[in-house]
Amino acid sequence: AEQPAAISRLLKDRLGKHGVELDELSMSNDDLAAIDRVYMVACGTSYHVSLIARELVQDWAKIPVFCEYASELNYKEPLVTDHTLCVIITQSGETADTLTAARRMKALGCKVFAITNVLGSSAARESDGTMYIQAGPEVCVASTKAYTAQMVASALLALRLALANGSMDEDEVRGHFASLEQVPGLMEEVIRRRWQDKQAARVFRNAKSALFLGRGVNSTTAYEGALKLKEISYLHAEAYPAGEMKHGPIALLEPGFPVVAIVPADHVHDKTVSNIEESIARGATVVAVATDGDERVAKLCENVLWIPPCPEEWIVPLVAVVHLQLLARYVARARGCDVDKPRNLAKSVTVE
Ligand code: G6P
Repeated sequence: AEQPAAISRLLKDRLGKHGVELDELSMSNDDLAAIDRVYMVACGTSYHVSLIARELVQDWAKIPVFCEYASELNYKEPLVTDHTLCVIITQSGETADTLTAARRMKALGCKVFAITNVLGSSAARESDGTMYIQAGPEVCVASTKAYTAQMVASALLALRLALANGSMDEDEVRGHFASLEQVPGLMEEVIRRRWQDKQAARVFRNAKSALFLGRGVNSTTAYEGALKLKEISYLHAEAYPAGEMKHGPIALLEPGFPVVAIVPADHVHDKTVSNIEESIARGATVVAVATDGDERVAKLCENVLWIPPCPEEWIVPLVAVVHLQLLARYVARARGCDVDKPRNLAKSVTVE
């Protein structure tokens, strides 16, 4: 419920004379313009943020991006150029794997930029620049508002890079920024509709497992939705880009098997609808996340988590995930799990 306010805080005073202001980067325009490669390094939910950030940086700034789990990067050789930027994304700023990766990348000559929620954290202290997401303390172990706030911070970074290297002009930057400004209101609308999540949670009452599907930026929404469900309700869940369903996960489907399909009004909508039809044909119970007014999905699925229309496709992950966070919470409650303190997990993992 604190997410809309967190996003508003983050966007406040960001739009300056020269597009998005990101002084925290502490890099000159020329240095930013010279960046020819970006490594995004993170763990857990923050890693999912990096997957969306990759799409935005590549689309907008036309710079190739490598996303790496910190625990993986630490045991391989990164391909660093003279102008590689390393972005570490870490809510706590204390995740040991991520800090080790940052130190290594720095030693290899990269500028390291941190996106974090915690002032004065190790990540902030050790990086060349830090952007605080200002989401306020996150009490529950599973990250929620930090996920969306980190995504917004990454979008600002992508806009800054695109403006610096001339891939985007100021008007375009302002246009995308205006879309971001709609996010708090869109999230509030989803929170008002939480009864839909409560109702859909029933589908998972006796389930042993669930499959999450989405395409494009919303394949990441699927990953994050599955992770939230796993973390707090101990229900096995896995996520796939919807087009990959036929290459394996479809074997899981049987009558009553829960499938969560993220199927907003976007350029891949019809393809994902086909996946819903295939799932239903095999008896699966599909919970869809769809955009208001989608009659095809309304006809196909009994349980729909409705989102209001979003100004751009890349805004959808910020809005749709709120439904999946709420869904996970209701499923966890129904299964008698401690939503804030799930077993075996820690808020920040300070060992490698
Ligand atoms: C732990 C938490 C996860 C979190 C991950 C990364 O495993 O349980 O919720 O996503 O650490 O944390 P960070 O603070 O680096 O974002």
